[in-house]
Amino acid sequence: MLRTHTCNELTAHNLGAAVTLSGWVQSRRDHGGLIFIDLRDRYGITQIVFRPEEYAEAFAVGDSVRSEYVIQVKGAVSKRPAEMINKHLPTGEIEVIVHEIKILNTAKTPPFEVESPAEAEQDVNEERRMTYRYIDLRRPRMKRNMTARHEAIRFIRNFLADRGFLEVETPLLTKSTPEGARDYLVPSRVHRGRFYALPQSPQQYKQLLMVGGLDRYFQIAKCLRDEDSRGDRQAEFSQLDLEMSFVERDDVLDLLEVLATSLVEYFKEKKFITKSILSKPFPRLSYDEAVLRYGIDKPDLRFGLEITDITELVRNCGFSVFADAVAKGGVVRALNAPGAGETLSRSHIDELTELAKTHHAKGLAYIKVKDGGELDSPIVKFLGDECARRIVQALSADTGKVKAGDIIFFGADHHLIVEESLAHVRLDLARRLGLIDPNVLAFSFTLDFPLFEPEYVNRHPVPMHHMFTMPRKEDLSLLDTDPLKVKSWQYDFVFNGNETAGGSIRIHVPELQQKIFELIGFSKEQQKDFIHMLEAFQYGAPPHGGFALGIDRFLMLLLDEPNIREVMAFPKTGDARDLTVGAPSTVEQQQLRDLGIRVIME
Ligand code: AMO
Ligand code: AMP
Repeated sequence: MLRTHTCNELTAHNLGAAVTLSGWVQSRRDHGGLIFIDLRDRYGITQIVFRPEEYAEAFAVGDSVRSEYVIQVKGAVSKRPAEMINKHLPTGEIEVIVHEIKILNTAKTPPFEVESPAEAEQDVNEERRMTYRYIDLRRPRMKRNMTARHEAIRFIRNFLADRGFLEVETPLLTKSTPEGARDYLVPSRVHRGRFYALPQSPQQYKQLLMVGGLDRYFQIAKCLRDEDSRGDRQAEFSQLDLEMSFVERDDVLDLLEVLATSLVEYFKEKKFITKSILSKPFPRLSYDEAVLRYGIDKPDLRFGLEITDITELVRNCGFSVFADAVAKGGVVRALNAPGAGETLSRSHIDELTELAKTHHAKGLAYIKVKDGGELDSPIVKFLGDECARRIVQALSADTGKVKAGDIIFFGADHHLIVEESLAHVRLDLARRLGLIDPNVLAFSFTLDFPLFEPEYVNRHPVPMHHMFTMPRKEDLSLLDTDPLKVKSWQYDFVFNGNETAGGSIRIHVPELQQKIFELIGFSKEQQKDFIHMLEAFQYGAPPHGGFALGIDRFLMLLLDEPNIREVMAFPKTGDARDLTVGAPSTVEQQQLRDLGIRVIME
């Protein structure tokens, strides 16, 4: 070993010991004829001291080292003078007097500082950080995140292994499993003109593992989806993928709930976080309820601001915007923002209106509640006093008393437009009114999703999640008559308003699976691609279900990072480039010839 201790180990207990340390030169100070260096490794920092009189040779070399040089020093642990003790460092009571030094490697001036105050750390351009990721990884933020990620995965592995789950690796060179994105294709050299698809998820394999009788499976699985990256999305990401046999929905949810709760506890113990879970057990909302109360299937439950349906109340009132929406089969919904009258200026309200419009709303009517309960808004004269009062009563009954200083916002349109626009207005209001408590983690489950999206595409229904999801038994007959009304056994795990895991009880009966293929408009040819699933289900498939949790997304939220790149060692840019190694890249002509590929540049 090139060291006897790490740079975080030595304390007053080691006084006088002869030690060898290796690490990076973090900073150098010349002081009273001595040289002080903070020597850094993954574990921490130790101060080393060069004394010119006693160790002239070492001093001369010490004098020549620069930031980020890699050095090895041999010396003796010594107590720091009282005024030099640093209580914030585990090694803050001691220093190492260097007897010998060896430069293991020199370093160019790094493109950005390794150790810098948190604010300065934010300032470095992210492309630069990604290009020089190996230097970025030396910095406290990435070091913390990589350590936390390791701890999370280790915790998950132990947790599941203790509960009888088998970790199984499934292939990367495989066939398409649609999860809603494009596939990455890999050409086969041996089978010209044929391609493997990289998995968008191990969905089919994990179901086949259940048919194989493995009963409880998990995997930390790489998933690849050819789609534009965003803050919460990467082309290549990791899932905790899991599947169980002989279970019902609540068995899977209970497991996920205990796993998430214990992981949060573990992270608190390890001091990665100080936040607490807002409500346990986790709220379980049906899809319909979530959409009605929050406008969205992944509600942020860190704050209230619930939405109330007032369609029936305003059906016959005099305000044409509302009455027309209802007459056309639409809905009218309202949202009371407590104290907004005091916080929001006219221009804030205009911005909220613009926000609603970017989500297809035609406007954002509102009523201000004044002292004495007086209602102030141009629309009150159209609504009539009576109707306006009934709205206030309905909101008070639903979400708590409407008070002076509040503003009630309205959406009137097709329900999909009202839901989407009010969901965005709700989130924006929460931020503007400071209603989001940064110290809580709001977990919830959304249940009973529709099996299909609300609209047909090319006259066929489109699966809301994926085509392996089990429809509700009581809705099976609707598959033939009104498929968009069919509810399923799909569930999502929601974290502070983000979808972090999704799953379902699966179809395990071949006839039903085939029926879904046909309903969604799969041609005979397309069905052939999934014939192995239909066939497997004919050989005794157990009832089964599971989920996949986005590890990157979950960690981003847990560690309070603004995007998932911060919790990945080598993330990709928005357009899926790896700046560290320079991928994707062109390849040798010969490689293309071997694969039988000609590139057409258009
Ligand atoms: P789904 O596609 O919903 O389900 O993915 C599950 C979870 O994976 C995460 N996730 C992503 N994270 C980062 N970048 C992406 N591009 C990305 N896409 C998804 C999300 C999401 O909740 N096979 C099913 C699961 C199942 O039914 O068991 C599946 O993959 O956190
Ligand atoms: P108008 O009658 O179009 O001038 O609109 C009167 C008020 O109602 C304005 O504050 C608009 O922003 C609002 N408004 C218009 N259409 C809608 C709608 N579909 N939903 C909610 N508010 C609307």
